Amino acid sequence: MTANQIRAKYLEFFKKQGHAIVPSASLLPENDPSTLFTGSGMQPMVPYLLGEKHPEGVRIADSQKCFRAMDIDDVGDNRHTTFFEMLGNWSLGDYFKKEQINWVFEFLTKELGLDPGRIYVSVYQGNEKYNIPKDDEAVNMWQEKFKGVGIEAKAKENVAEFGMEEGDRIFYYNEKENWWSRVGTPENMPEGEPGGPDSEMFWDFGAHLGLHEKSQWRGRKCHPACDCGRFLEIGNNVFMQYKKIKDGFMELANKNIDFGGGLERLAVAVNDNPDIFLGDVFASLREGIEKVSGKKYGEDEGETKAFRVIMDHLRGAVFLIGDGALPSNKDQGYFTRRLIRRAVRFAYDLGVDYNFTNDIARIVIDEYADYYTDLREKQLMIIEEMKKEEEKFRKTLKLGLKEFEKINWESMGEVDDMETPSIMCEVDASHAFNLFQTYGFPLEMIQEELEKKGMYVDKEKFNKEMQKHQDLSRTASAGKFKGGLVDSSEETTKLHTVAHLMLAALRKVLGEDVHQRGSNITAKRLRFDFSYGEKMTDEQKQEVERLVNGAIQRGLLVNCEEMTVDEARTAGAEGMFDAKYGEKVKVYSIGEGDDLFSKEICGGPHVESIAGLGIFKIQKEQSSSAGVRRIKAVLE
Ligand code: ALA
Repeated sequence: MTANQIRAKYLEFFKKQGHAIVPSASLLPENDPSTLFTGSGMQPMVPYLLGEKHPEGVRIADSQKCFRAMDIDDVGDNRHTTFFEMLGNWSLGDYFKKEQINWVFEFLTKELGLDPGRIYVSVYQGNEKYNIPKDDEAVNMWQEKFKGVGIEAKAKENVAEFGMEEGDRIFYYNEKENWWSRVGTPENMPEGEPGGPDSEMFWDFGAHLGLHEKSQWRGRKCHPACDCGRFLEIGNNVFMQYKKIKDGFMELANKNIDFGGGLERLAVAVNDNPDIFLGDVFASLREGIEKVSGKKYGEDEGETKAFRVIMDHLRGAVFLIGDGALPSNKDQGYFTRRLIRRAVRFAYDLGVDYNFTNDIARIVIDEYADYYTDLREKQLMIIEEMKKEEEKFRKTLKLGLKEFEKINWESMGEVDDMETPSIMCEVDASHAFNLFQTYGFPLEMIQEELEKKGMYVDKEKFNKEMQKHQDLSRTASAGKFKGGLVDSSEETTKLHTVAHLMLAALRKVLGEDVHQRGSNITAKRLRFDFSYGEKMTDEQKQEVERLVNGAIQRGLLVNCEEMTVDEARTAGAEGMFDAKYGEKVKVYSIGEGDDLFSKEICGGPHVESIAGLGIFKIQKEQSSSAGVRRIKAVLE
């Protein structure tokens, strides 16, 4: 069964259970300051999980593009990727645990034909401090399902300590394994963040492959959540029923389901081969790299890692560029740059010494364009960006690598044995910075090269060097890349509504060709990109401020209606009229009748009235990229 077939089967199955199928949201989240990338199917759904009404109803399913930047360094084993597709279904205050466990069991065992005898599940062991009960309810439901296929499923606690025994099938784990929110455990979730206990499903590739013994975990007990690769997580049911509040958790008004299943992981389970990169979505990519390198995937361990890195990184870069993250030194674009440059570096080790990423990009697009049709439309741009980035880096790659050899390490300390360095020697940050500045090696790649030689550079010192040389803001590299903090606060919502006011005012002042190109909102400020070719004059900025503040003074009301995309267009709503929002959309109006100020397609959330929002002020107006301006604005 191919990944395409599995995706289609999943969507069809949940459609039959009354779910509306919605298209994937962008990899670059809109109005979500919590992360740089969409890393799970749940992320674009957060407002709805918190109680906003979804225009498509209370049962939603999709296949969501995801990018997990944190996993870059794990790419190279048989299952980690930065980009992946997550199949998802949601109940927004509709069905709950029982239905979900029934359906997902049916989907896995009947639709995909997975042997239930090789499926294992985990549940949450509860948390006394926060008064969250142990999930015996889920255990009973799973036991019933397994019983239905003749399997007696025993539940077990502390498996990491005691090990798995005959008949054990359901395992209680703590919040590290079985709690889900965008930011982690109950303890470190910020206020306002939704989360809940979860129950995961694992596929057992079998002890006979000896994966555990071959891994760094040998000698310890193996069990479903062990990272040796014998068990692969293929799906996760989140019982999204809590919201973090000041001193604990409150039950959400609605009990929600958030299911996510990695498409490629399901595919490897169905095909019973633990190497994701042997899956069908990678087949043409693998062949493409075999062709340019003359090497064979799977023959040599080091080369196989290189293949995997190249496949993963270039596929990720294609999707990121497609969603607007062009290679750059900042924010999301920095990751695109890292992916492409790192792929080029690994290809160099495979002997690929000439431009090849454009060929690979074409293969990726051909593989995915049937489902993600926008890739075809953006094909030329994507390939062009890829090529440009590769060419830029190739100009300096060889010289840069020579420079690594040349830097005289003597002064930095002693490395007695290069093969197995026991002492890591610190390298002068200015040397390392030179490799960045002159040869275009991203910091993480510099660290990787240094590590091979038993050396490292101090990140702080490197960043200081960087700041000395250019205005690359500390927040971009330190704060935001860590994932930042989530902020679903009132202030953010206010600024989101202000973004609508500002866009409407910009269109009144600068003309109807102005459209939103992106936005990023924190509790403190609004950053907003829009299409416009020139620098705004002081008068224009003041006029925009005057219009927005006038609307705030009149205390206009915010009103939300649901309609189809076509109706929204006819009603004169501003917004991107692509399929991305699904069939039905929400249209937010501010003001009405003669005093209709703004009408925009948007998922929300927004304040109900703009009275008393404060005084709107534009702090900065500057160029963002060709034909796009950026405004930073605040409420005072
Ligand atoms: N949001 C859940 C996850 O990413 C389904 O695992």
